[in-house]
Amino acid sequence: MGEKMTDLGNLQGQVIVITGAGAGIGEGIARAAAASGMKLVLADKAAERVDAVAASLREAGADATAFHTDVTDPAQVEELASQAYAQYGQVDMLINNAGIELIGLIWELPPEQWRRIMDINVLGVVNGLRAFVPRMLEAGKPAAIANLSSVGGVSQAPLQAAYLVSKHAVLSLTECLALELRILKAPIHVSAVLPGPVESRIFADSAAAGEHKLIKAHHEEMKAMIRDHGLPAQQAGERILAGIAAGDFWVSPHPEMMAGAAAARGSFLQGLKDPQLNERMAQAALD
Ligand SMILES: NC(=O)c1ccc[n+]([C@@H]2O[C@H](COP(=O)([O-])OP(=O)(O)OC[C@H]3O[C@@H](n4cnc5c(N)ncnc54)[C@H](O)[C@@H]3O)[C@@H](O)[C@H]2O)c1
Repeated sequence: MGEKMTDLGNLQGQVIVITGAGAGIGEGIARAAAASGMKLVLADKAAERVDAVAASLREAGADATAFHTDVTDPAQVEELASQAYAQYGQVDMLINNAGIELIGLIWELPPEQWRRIMDINVLGVVNGLRAFVPRMLEAGKPAAIANLSSVGGVSQAPLQAAYLVSKHAVLSLTECLALELRILKAPIHVSAVLPGPVESRIFADSAAAGEHKLIKAHHEEMKAMIRDHGLPAQQAGERILAGIAAGDFWVSPHPEMMAGAAAARGSFLQGLKDPQLNERMAQAALD
């Protein structure tokens, strides 16, 4: 692999691009990066939100520019890369963070909602890689790319299949990316980021499709779980940035939860076990 950036101190003056930077984890990473002296290229489809984040970071003395980018549109992501290189001359870190949630039974989710979540969560990451990797390869300098999967990327659960499928896909994409860059001996480090619960808009903004009583209850529980047990986004951002800067492949603001979920997945696959409802879902199924 490429040369590792060993500590946050080295990030001073480096350029970071973050998608979905107008809220939650993306904003948290932006604030942590600004505190480390990085220059910020902040992209989000929500124009007002990303403008406000960039303005507040500039007020605090950071060099931050907001871009109104929808990651599902390859042309907009290409334009983001072109503008970032034109304005800053280099990109040292790319965080493919934009993502959405979706709740419902597999067969009840409308095709357009399936397509939307795959377009944002999976192809949005691909669009980021298509725009930035060739430029990073051409620059030939050490760089880092981190893609937001989730602890859900190594988990199984009912009612969130579309999201979990997308996050398993992002993890697979990230593993393959690391290998493809390794065959090219590119000095680009790759990280898979697997957060547990972090305070954000994700469940408040998510769609919940279907009539079954479990769907509404699950949506309310997820919103409450993030509200009551979510790690503050800035703290999550600091931990994520530190993990990426340390050159780790597996990065999480909840390292024990990630390790537990990965171990459970490993044992599930090794034992060729049957899928299991967790206790809460098993109870809900009995009610
Ligand atoms: N919050 C959590 O508990 C949690 C846990 C695990 C993984 N994640 C992942 O972290 C990432 C960030 O999630 P969050 O919780 O901060 O969510 P959030 O909803 O608070 O923020 C996501 C941001 O992405 C933006 N976005 C959505 N669609 C977009 C698009 N098409 N183009 C550009 N921007 C778009 C939104 O406008 C929003 O500002 C997601 O990939 C999510 O799956 C979150």
